[in-house]
Amino acid sequence: MQTRWARYGAFLLVLLLLTACGRQSAVTAGGGAEIPEEILGELDEETLQDLVEEPKYVALTFDDGPRRDTTSVLLDGLLERGVPATFFVIGQQIPGNEDLLRRMAAEGHQVGNHTYGHTRLLTADPDKVVEEIQKTEVLLKELLGEGDYWLRPPYGSIGKTRAALVKTPMIYWTVDPEDWKVLDAAKVTEHVVSHVEPWGIILLHDFYPTSVSAALDIVDQLQAEGYTFVTVKELFRIRGVEPQAGCLYASPDKLRSLG
Ligand code: NI
Repeated sequence: MQTRWARYGAFLLVLLLLTACGRQSAVTAGGGAEIPEEILGELDEETLQDLVEEPKYVALTFDDGPRRDTTSVLLDGLLERGVPATFFVIGQQIPGNEDLLRRMAAEGHQVGNHTYGHTRLLTADPDKVVEEIQKTEVLLKELLGEGDYWLRPPYGSIGKTRAALVKTPMIYWTVDPEDWKVLDAAKVTEHVVSHVEPWGIILLHDFYPTSVSAALDIVDQLQAEGYTFVTVKELFRIRGVEPQAGCLYASPDKLRSLG
């Protein structure tokens, strides 16, 4: 009898793991440092606030590159500031830009997959979905070595059926200033700075000079507000969340419905 229940329990657990994106994840990180009581009274309000406040982590992500002129300027600016970012690259733009990809990896950025031809996966043939992801993955592995190249589906949507074909986690975003449409660095910066929250993921495109300029302003302003920039992988690791293949995450704390 007991064995049967144990088996039933195990079956339920497996079913839960299979059907639920992110249910296995546990938020374990957090918690500020403990301050010895005897020095608490010695500190002024502002210092105390800094010590008690949780560190604020955020990830900058860039889609639709690499593009020779704009991506190079962005990499220079990020290097100067010591800030890592995440690049979801389009496979067909890799040939001729291999040095930019190598530079991203060498300078501590995360590189991810944005399909080969910026294909709308939601309506693509299932075979095409797999091909679009694999073609870019092969290029990335040849260039940068074995690794887990997370996917950002173009237009942020893929649908349940096709998501099941994806063998890595998928990354959405929490802040989208529509930089590709706005094409105004000041407006893009203002939108991001006023909408960002700790553990957020910012969406930009390293394809436009205005977005590159905005990105560097965003870094300067948010750093002044106490934010620390990390790659998407680091953001999940620090938050204590293990992202699952085939699931779409807006942030480590928020799953995006597959629709
Ligand atoms: Ni895109």
